[in-house]
Amino acid sequence: MKTAAPALDLAAVRAQFPVLEARFGGKALVYLDSACTALKSRGVAATLAETTELWGGCGGKRSTHLFAQEVEGRYQEARRTVARFLNAERAEDVVLTSGTTEGVNLVARGFDFSGTRREVVVGAWEHNSVLLPFLEAQGRGVCVLKVCPVRSGRLDLDALDGLVGDKTALVALARSSNVLGGDLPAANVARLCRRRGAKLLLDEAQYLSSHREDVRATGADFVAFSAHKLGGPFGVGALWGEERALNALRPAKPGGGTVKEVVLEDGAPVPHWLDSPMRHEAGVPNIPGAVAFAKALELLGSWDPAAVRAHAEALVRRVVAGVSRVDGAEVVGDPEALAEGSLVALRFTDPALSIKDFNLYLNHELDGRFVAVRAGEHCAHLLHASLGLGETLRVSFFAYTTPEETDVFLSALESYVREVRS
Ligand SMILES: Cc1ncc(COP(=O)(O)O)c(C=O)c1O
Repeated sequence: MKTAAPALDLAAVRAQFPVLEARFGGKALVYLDSACTALKSRGVAATLAETTELWGGCGGKRSTHLFAQEVEGRYQEARRTVARFLNAERAEDVVLTSGTTEGVNLVARGFDFSGTRREVVVGAWEHNSVLLPFLEAQGRGVCVLKVCPVRSGRLDLDALDGLVGDKTALVALARSSNVLGGDLPAANVARLCRRRGAKLLLDEAQYLSSHREDVRATGADFVAFSAHKLGGPFGVGALWGEERALNALRPAKPGGGTVKEVVLEDGAPVPHWLDSPMRHEAGVPNIPGAVAFAKALELLGSWDPAAVRAHAEALVRRVVAGVSRVDGAEVVGDPEALAEGSLVALRFTDPALSIKDFNLYLNHELDGRFVAVRAGEHCAHLLHASLGLGETLRVSFFAYTTPEETDVFLSALESYVREVRS
């Protein structure tokens, strides 16, 4: 028998996010766009401000004065917090990046495709931040892209099995789609990749807001994610990898802080790269961002993971059930897969109804409030094209989202459909 999941103390969670009480043009915010970016807590904002104000001096191992040591200490402590969040063995296995996009680019540009394995397998549900770096690498002639299809709202694992072979260098997959939700059986996929001699990169941008990662259990080679989708600041994220995997990546973003030395060989400068993470962290780092990222992870870590997951699942099921009651609208994907994520995308089956109009309706036609959602193709153009979807409208949740907020959305959906048809 399934035991009841513990409940989140929603009032206490929401109290951490002052913007939930803000009004915009006199209207209250109903924020259902957390898959785009989660709201930032008071603690994250304060940490950013405080670190900028009090620790805004040179750090990053360049200068060695006492202040620099203090600043650097905070930056490295943030790295340790990210490592703990992932259950990584070593803090050095975490490269602090500007987000998922940079993490994936570091792999796509730095990966050694010089051997006999030149194929990269991605899913048809990939976000452009995974698809495009490998498409660009294919354009440069360094690799060949293979796309694993989506079937019934999930990545087609039988097709994946057929695609990963002795020519596969790398498999790069979202662990949870930003349109279809889902929870990829990542440990199984990692075993498949290992058996076939391919590396696995997981995009966990959408996964970690309501799931916990244990990189030792999952067995992937690389994991990329963004702070801002977890309530952390913009412009910071992490690429985790094992020491050997990270050091095998050519420094794809070379610059200050990445070399031990530059020597002259026959009069020509030759760089001697540092080991990871430094070889991948060029330039003066985003120290306030990293420290505030750690703060966000502490808050996320203070909530019971089972409660966070149960909360997201309940919200998804509530919205899926509500949409199914509306003639002319349908959810995109498989309800059970969606329930493993924290978002729902929908489309209209009646041509009289329009995603763009409904989005305007949500912003302008509700009394005293507006509902913030995402309309479009969600940077998942390949998925929309392969499923022939056109635009979809996505509602997405975080720990602070209430069932009542989803009900505001659902009743707006019903009234929009009614008004168009009246
Ligand atoms: C599944 C997925 N992967 C990657 C990204 C890219 O994240 P970022 O823009 O923070 O680099 C997103 C952002 O929406 C996403 O949803």
